[in-house]
Amino acid sequence: MQFFLDTTDTVVLKTLAATGLVDGVTTNPSLIAKSGRPMLEVIAEICALVDGPISAEVAAPDAVGMVAEGRRLREIAANVVVKIPLTFEGLKATRTLADEGMDVNVTLCFSTVQALMAAKAGATFISPFIGRLDDYGAIGMDLISEIRTVYDNYDFDTQILAASIRNTAHVRAAAIAGADCATLPPAVFQDMIKHPLTEKGLEQFNADWAKTGQSIL
Ligand code: E4P
Repeated sequence: MQFFLDTTDTVVLKTLAATGLVDGVTTNPSLIAKSGRPMLEVIAEICALVDGPISAEVAAPDAVGMVAEGRRLREIAANVVVKIPLTFEGLKATRTLADEGMDVNVTLCFSTVQALMAAKAGATFISPFIGRLDDYGAIGMDLISEIRTVYDNYDFDTQILAASIRNTAHVRAAAIAGADCATLPPAVFQDMIKHPLTEKGLEQFNADWAKTGQSIL
């Protein structure tokens, strides 16, 4: 499973990327607004920090505008993935950019048939929003399972990128359901490393080791 970070905070990104466990990054207009920085500058900085796919989202409402913005974003770096909302115009733009050889992440997916349309349009990634579906009263993780089944039924190679992840239980369930990737808020990435029994066990080992008076080096 590939782990992407869902952030525009380059300081946090640099710290977490040092683990070697960050395979890519996703951004969206809300995260760009939160950064308070010019989008093109932030995306360029992120592309320099992480070698993998970096999703940068278009803002135009129409396919012609989305395609123009997608081409501009892709000029920033070869690892830019153009992120496009799952609308009628978005699917037209996805088809055009995919035919030009660009990677497209189709975002704001909330149903299996939407995911089917995105795959047929040539999306490299589909982003089902788990947390927002849970907030809406649905079972977000069911969507991941259904998309996995449908994509496997028809041999689509579009990768399922579990998005709107809120906690480590979401990551666990997405991995079991067969998501190819998950985009994680930095806090969830860090929580995935922790367990109270690890901390307790380490305290005990450290105390017992100190009693031996030994040193390895
Ligand atoms: C993914 O591509 C989105 O940027 C993100 O996962 C949305 O998460 P949210 O629902 O927590 O805003």
